Amino acid sequence: MEHKWKTIIEPFKIKTVEPLGITTREERLKVIETAHYNLFNIKAEKVLIDLLTDSGTGAMSAAQWGGIMVGDESYAGARSYYNFENEIKSLTGFDEVIPVHQGRAAEKILFGVIGGKGKCIISNSHFDTTRANVEFSGAEAMDFPVKEAMDFDRPAPFKGNADVAAMEKFVKEKGAKNIPLCVMTVTNNSLGGQPVSMGNLKAVQALCQKYGIPLFLDCARFAENAYFIKIREKGYAQCPVREIAQAMFELADGAWMSSKKDALVNMGGFLAMNNKDWSAKARQMLILTEGFSTYGGLAGRDLEAIAIGLREVLDENYLQYRIRSAAYLGEGLLKHGVPIINPPGGHGVYVNARKFLPHIQPRNFPAQALACALYLEGGIRGVEIGTLMFGKRDKNGVYQAAPMELVRLAMPRRVYTQSHIDYVIEVFGYLAKNKKTIKGLDVVEAAPILPHFTAKLRPAK
Ligand code: F0G
Repeated sequence: MEHKWKTIIEPFKIKTVEPLGITTREERLKVIETAHYNLFNIKAEKVLIDLLTDSGTGAMSAAQWGGIMVGDESYAGARSYYNFENEIKSLTGFDEVIPVHQGRAAEKILFGVIGGKGKCIISNSHFDTTRANVEFSGAEAMDFPVKEAMDFDRPAPFKGNADVAAMEKFVKEKGAKNIPLCVMTVTNNSLGGQPVSMGNLKAVQALCQKYGIPLFLDCARFAENAYFIKIREKGYAQCPVREIAQAMFELADGAWMSSKKDALVNMGGFLAMNNKDWSAKARQMLILTEGFSTYGGLAGRDLEAIAIGLREVLDENYLQYRIRSAAYLGEGLLKHGVPIINPPGGHGVYVNARKFLPHIQPRNFPAQALACALYLEGGIRGVEIGTLMFGKRDKNGVYQAAPMELVRLAMPRRVYTQSHIDYVIEVFGYLAKNKKTIKGLDVVEAAPILPHFTAKLRPAK
């Protein structure tokens, strides 16, 4: 956008609208009790501003809806598949492109091929489904975030980076032959949607090359990451974001993507790589569980929309607006004294509930309590990333404090306007003034895998 104006506007106009779920506090109290204080159990129509996730919740463009209408639904060899494959090849440079219905399907297939007992996957940080799929295969998932990632208050430009020295120390101890893969998650979702610098990607690649370990990107938010490199890393200001993204992929041997994020679609994903042995095995698994290799659990129209979305997301006016939106929310919260992971991430803001609600013990889930209060007072839905999500218990069944206690406010792409965000900031202002009234929770029931999705809770006694 033109530089003489400082207001960054939404670079789109709205063609289709949907009403928001407007409820009263009294109604919401009933809703949350019935949902057992788990926001995954709430009917979406009872949510006013839904910041549960940025995954599959974005608005598609008129061009994407147009693509939906011309999608080729042939079982094998559909034109839409070739559009999808060509787009991914030209963006990533990888030869083997495998469509999947979403990110975790790629993870299940990939770790089914390369995981297993005795193996270890190393990463800046595994996203929770990635970790779950690594562990389900029998392998171990090890995270090596940089130290500043855990210093939530102090801003740093690339808190998503990996600690390369710690990674190398581990590789030497474990033995490279037991490490079939290194994964860089861009941006680093679990630790605040923080970007990884090109410098760090290069250093990780050099390490991987030295020890013969393949490097993959978990590239759900690759465009946001590339834009951060453009605006924060020396030497990239003049470089088109698409070229930065291509340079990121060039450092890797493969990637998988939950296309529900930066491909601007509601469903889809891919697994891409150069290794023909791995891709042949992956396609066998694909055919077994997802579908034939030219649709992989998706409709032809979905493939078409992904191909278009992967181009649209690299529009720099879009990315400027996108990154600015999260920053605007973060600044608003900081003004009310609400502690966040600073700076805000690419796809949202992570509130530090441990610091915000010091009167609630970890075993009473401060982040979940805050997420519930946010819903009760404002009809806003966020997601807990803390003691409930990590779900580690001691032998007496008491929950062990997770390393962090966060509420993520993830922003759907192209969905909410600035006044929606002003409203969220206002509700937080109220919560900040009345935080002593927010009480902790107890778990009544929880599953062993990914417990946060289904757990039942109640107000602590
Ligand atoms: N990797 C990352 C970095 C993710 O953020 C996600 C999903 C996945 C993999 C799995 O993809 O959902 O398509 O199966 N993240 C969503 C979120 C669920 O809310 O952050 P999926």
